Amino acid sequence: MKIAIIGASGYAGGELIRLLVHHSTADVVCATSRKLAGTPLDQVHPHLKGFTNLTFTNPGTDAIDADVAFLAVPHTAAMTYAGKLLSRGIKVVDLSADYRLPKDVYEKTYGVTHSDYFPAPYGIPELHRKECINAPFVANPGCFPTGATLAAAPLARYAHTVIFDSKTGVSGAGDNPSATTHYPNVGDNIGPYKWTTHRHLAEMKQELATLGSKARVYFTPHLVPVNRGILTTAHILLNEPLEQKEVEKLYRDFYRDEYFVRYQKPSLAAVRGSNFCDLMVESEGERIVAVSAIDNLVKGASGQAIQNMNLMCGLKENDGLIGAGMLP
Ligand SMILES: NC(=O)c1ccc[n+]([C@@H]2O[C@H](COP(=O)([O-])OP(=O)(O)OC[C@H]3O[C@@H](n4cnc5c(N)ncnc54)[C@H](OP(=O)(O)O)[C@@H]3O)[C@@H](O)[C@H]2O)c1
Repeated sequence: MKIAIIGASGYAGGELIRLLVHHSTADVVCATSRKLAGTPLDQVHPHLKGFTNLTFTNPGTDAIDADVAFLAVPHTAAMTYAGKLLSRGIKVVDLSADYRLPKDVYEKTYGVTHSDYFPAPYGIPELHRKECINAPFVANPGCFPTGATLAAAPLARYAHTVIFDSKTGVSGAGDNPSATTHYPNVGDNIGPYKWTTHRHLAEMKQELATLGSKARVYFTPHLVPVNRGILTTAHILLNEPLEQKEVEKLYRDFYRDEYFVRYQKPSLAAVRGSNFCDLMVESEGERIVAVSAIDNLVKGASGQAIQNMNLMCGLKENDGLIGAGMLP
């Protein structure tokens, strides 16, 4: 299976290549970068030396010869590729935000006009597997919404309020340096950002509503001095109290058949580099605290994108994704 990665010089693109090394049938044949066309890929991703002989290219969409393309580019760039690749019979997984929300919500949330909108399955396979199977196109979810939604999903219908408090590693911001990600500002430090206005809130609201929730949903992210990982604490306020035994059973049953969701005490280190979401829940009666941990670049981006590709192509869902996390 020939794979093209659009935006292969970035963090998500590099992670796709790292993970696809272990896939049974996927062979990355095209890795794009506009700025680095002509540069050997392992000069930018030295950890991949010996695993790939690719050189970055910058082909037009008509020249991309692949069975599946991953769009690991910023929002608004993805919409210039998606429709064109699909019209040539290439399956597409979009890691950007361009197709995760209805057009009007997307345009309001991102403050841009969508030039090529079409509806797409929202690729959290644990919640939307049927829509992703054999689909030509899947919108891969945001990193925060993946961890947050998985943490709250089993209780979504019973809640009147859900408050997500997330801590994220710095790679969530991509490889473009900025004052926010400058080492002295991040190292030995923790701080909130976009306290009430983070764009991923729209996806969280959408997904909880899809699960039948009428809850008010709030979200505040914090930047913490780690490279990878998102730990989300979900405060789920219920209409009626639930005992610990009941709520734990609800979670265990909800995720019983899910390979990538493990019911255990979450920690960033235990999921680092893996496609697992670890989560656990504790009851205080009317307040349930559910905590999840994912690697933002794997279950929060490239790993989940491969999980979706596997479903779209009729492959085993965990093909290429069975690696354990790294502890310590
Ligand atoms: N980082 C995460 O944890 C994470 C998690 C979930 C989702 N995502 C999403 O995944 C996408 C990639 O994120 P990232 O963190 O990998 O970003 P990144 O490190 O900044 O990389 C972006 C990549 O896209 C290319 N690119 C930028 N503008 C482009 C354009 N207009 N046309 C074609 N290529 C373009 C860049 O290379 P050139 O500029 O050289 O072409 C680079 O290869 C984003 O939409 C992001 O929101 C990221």
